Amino acid sequence: MAPDAVTIRPYQPGDLESCRALWAALVQRHRQLYGDPSIGGDAPGVYFDQHLARIGAGRIWVAERGEVMGLVGLIVEGEEAEVEPIAVAAGERGRGIGRLLLERAIAEAHTIGVRFLNVRPVARNAEAIAFFHEAGFRLLGRIELFMDLRDGAQGAWRPGADLFGHRFGC
Ligand SMILES: CC(C)(COP(=O)(O)OP(=O)(O)OC[C@H]1O[C@@H](n2cnc3c(N)ncnc32)[C@H](O)[C@@H]1OP(=O)(O)O)[C@@H](O)C(=O)NCCC(=O)NCCS
Repeated sequence: MAPDAVTIRPYQPGDLESCRALWAALVQRHRQLYGDPSIGGDAPGVYFDQHLARIGAGRIWVAERGEVMGLVGLIVEGEEAEVEPIAVAAGERGRGIGRLLLERAIAEAHTIGVRFLNVRPVARNAEAIAFFHEAGFRLLGRIELFMDLRDGAQGAWRPGADLFGHRFGC
């Protein structure tokens, strides 16, 4: 569906509260995915402030239609960059806003001469992986494997994906 009259523009100081809320919505998605309400702590939105301080306002863009409803950031390190974060307000997902935000981040990465543009969704976030794949992220980079060493941890994980013929949970 085409997102009517949505503007993608650079972050401005007046967007702070909206962006904190979008960061909190991103954390909420991860809480849902993992069934863990402790993810992100008591005030997850304030991590946006740390991100802003780290990457600078010039590397953050928002989607606006009357109010801010989406956020994308670009972490640039040499010839590599990572799209982080990307979030659309829960009630506005599936309407093409994420695609517009991602296109803007990709265009900015082109402009500053980035060679490798990465995204690092958690493996359980199948919807985000579908979104990125659809947008053209078709190459696999570094893969992080891990063990859960807690007693009785097996039940916490879902059957996941096959990679090079090996089965992984996520
Ligand atoms: C991931 C996210 C940013 C996508 O934004 P969005 O506005 O919902 O996505 P769009 O509507 O622009 O979708 C673009 C395309 O991505 C794919 N896509 C999007 N959501 C999808 C889903 N839930 N399942 C499968 N494919 C999906 C589709 O191909 C879609 O195109 P189509 O609508 O023409 O079929 C948004 O869903 C979000 O904020 N999720 C929660 C936060 C999050 O998980 N962020 C990523 C962390 S790395």
